[in-house]
Amino acid sequence: MKIAVFPGDGIGPEVTHEAVRVLQALDLPGLTLFEGDVGGIAYRRHGHPLPPETLEMARAADAVLFGAVGDPSCDGLERHLRPEQAILGLRAELGLFANLRPATTFPGLEGMSALRPEIAAAIDLLIVRELNGDVYFGDKGTRTLDDGQRQGWDMMAYAEGEVRRIAHLAFRAAQGRKRRLVSVDKANVLETSQLWRDVVNELAPEYPGVTLEHMYVDNAAMQLVREPGRFDVIVTGNLFGDILSDQASMCVGSIGLLASASLGERETAFGTFGLYEPIHGSAPDIAGQGRANPMATILSAAMMLRHSFGREADAARIESAVARALADGVRGGDLGGEAGTAAIGDAVLERL
Ligand code: NAI
Ligand code: MG
Repeated sequence: MKIAVFPGDGIGPEVTHEAVRVLQALDLPGLTLFEGDVGGIAYRRHGHPLPPETLEMARAADAVLFGAVGDPSCDGLERHLRPEQAILGLRAELGLFANLRPATTFPGLEGMSALRPEIAAAIDLLIVRELNGDVYFGDKGTRTLDDGQRQGWDMMAYAEGEVRRIAHLAFRAAQGRKRRLVSVDKANVLETSQLWRDVVNELAPEYPGVTLEHMYVDNAAMQLVREPGRFDVIVTGNLFGDILSDQASMCVGSIGLLASASLGERETAFGTFGLYEPIHGSAPDIAGQGRANPMATILSAAMMLRHSFGREADAARIESAVARALADGVRGGDLGGEAGTAAIGDAVLERL
């Protein structure tokens, strides 16, 4: 089990350290960890946020555990040298086309949500966002119109193969959960969305156990705060998924608890190759103080065991250890508590 660990900068190394301790405590057969530089630290050591040796390490691994990047001392650099290019570069170079973000309200934390506690309590959903297409990767530019005005433009496009692979992944995810899939688009206005909807409908007969529903993105945004408990799996394109996944994550409360997986098509001896990271950034305001909550990174390691190594039981053990630590009142600063990074790691390890 070869895992490339890229701690990054800011709180990245602190939270990654705790997740690595948890992985090591599980006695996984043949576990080998390699550490590589990304982000601001990589820029300082190698002159680039994603050095070739780091990329090679990722390619040679079965999965990547990523901390966070975003060193503010790099703010003045050109865009291609900024720390954030490390994560964008890894997603593109490794063909990671599916971003999975579970959002679940942990018992006892309903009050942390921006929603009313009884509404937040019902949240247990997974957003599957397409990551390699849409307006982010289409032709784009700024041109001057005949009347002299400047016009910015970005082309939204999806090929049916791109829709098919993300839809298959979402249907399969729904099969392993509550078997309800909502596909989000804007098919009343966009051609891209109409094709998306047609392709998803074409695949539906292959998944007879999954209930499929289509929803316009504006309505989905509304339903996510009105009745988030109605959702199980949501699948959507890159742009809508970017917005809805941030919205959904805040419906459950703290940023220090939310994990993510980015998956591609590459299969290893164990499962699907993927990159796993907390959804938060490098939190420069608390970096180096031992105050960051490592739970999101620990939960990302659990997702890794589930998706890249087929070790559901180990993943569930980690998740239940985190849930029990929270239920016992172990709270990081992001949850208004006092527990530091290492103390939270210890608390999870004890319960493991
Ligand atoms: P951020 O997520 O780093 O921090 C937002 C707020 O949440 C801060 O007050 C921070 O202290 C707090 N916070 C975040 N994670 C926490 C944790 N685990 N425990 C306790 N508190 C936590 O977002 P921000 O400040 O907008 O971005 C900082 C840098 O991170 C920027 O350079 C940004 O580009 C980068 N970034 C990188 C990401 C990545 O590596 N994938 C994702 C998001 C942002
Ligand atoms: Mg975002």
